[in-house]
Amino acid sequence: MSKALTASADMELASGLRDFWYPVDFSKNLGVTSIRSFELFDQTWILFRDKDGKAGCIQDECAHRACPLSLGKWVDGKIKCAYHGWEFNPQGLCVHTPSCRQAKASVRSLPVLEQDGMIWVWPGGPTISRDLPKQAPLIPDGFTLQAEILMELDVEHGLMLENLLDLAHAPFTHTGTFAKGWLAPASVKFDSSPQTPLTGQWNPYPIEMTFEPPCYVISTIGLRGRDCGRQLHQLHACLPMGKGRTRLLYRLALDFFQWARFIPGNHLFWRALAQRVINEDIRLVQGQQQRLQAGANVWNSPVSYDKLGLLYRRWRNQVERSSPEWPTAIAQKSDEALSMPELNPVESRQIS
Ligand code: FES
Ligand SMILES: [Fe+2]
Repeated sequence: MSKALTASADMELASGLRDFWYPVDFSKNLGVTSIRSFELFDQTWILFRDKDGKAGCIQDECAHRACPLSLGKWVDGKIKCAYHGWEFNPQGLCVHTPSCRQAKASVRSLPVLEQDGMIWVWPGGPTISRDLPKQAPLIPDGFTLQAEILMELDVEHGLMLENLLDLAHAPFTHTGTFAKGWLAPASVKFDSSPQTPLTGQWNPYPIEMTFEPPCYVISTIGLRGRDCGRQLHQLHACLPMGKGRTRLLYRLALDFFQWARFIPGNHLFWRALAQRVINEDIRLVQGQQQRLQAGANVWNSPVSYDKLGLLYRRWRNQVERSSPEWPTAIAQKSDEALSMPELNPVESRQIS
């Protein structure tokens, strides 16, 4: 095994991970007068719209006596606390304190962008220097969005990403869903594109996959094999809710059955399927998490098909050390990953 492939994994959410835009909800979920709460980096926030419909994000904790503002009400583009009626605008400023002199108070707010059907927040430092991710929000030409699903999972977001960046486990893990009856191939490989090592093809599966920092897994699956049409496009965004918790935004689009999105219950069908697939993964990843917490190294013995997960872990290690090396140097190191030895190739056999 190559020394260069060593990678650690831990549960800490280092500050370097904060300096990105994160999509915390789908636009369709935030109605004109609704309040949506979410957690990111162990803090709770709410989203709401001002009178003009522009999304804002403030701390979910009243400046008066810390009542959750998510229990309050939307009133003319402000949030009215359910306890004593203090009102906060999208910048977090308290603009009305009933039954007493106007108090000078505020709660924290986060910069917000709404684009590509998602609401993004910036939990990082004052210098907002990075753009929105390029690929992740895009639905490819010829595809139609079928479902947008939000889940919260009791598992560390990096472990979840490493799971999603691994297809070799499919015939062993997903025996009740999409990989039912799959043969375990003699060899599984992730063939990186030479120009963009974080994108590649899973060989022999007809699946293209990309890891896009900081938290996106983009995959396109040829349901009739490679280049035969009938493709399913997926986005998984795994957000660091907190230590050991993930907020997962999932988007699914098809280049066939475009009309299926109009069928009542279409969304529920995909939701149930996505949940079943995740349930097959989650008990395994939670098991890894327990071992990790007890001191195990989840990257003990990487083999060739672990390449994409390792590239993620290397990226994360660099970001957490706030190294300016990424992305150029890490991407170049993918050559080392390509030279990984084959360890214990799996024999072909029927799984089900
Ligand atoms: S706790 Fe919010 S107004 Fe008193
Ligand atoms: Fe899986």
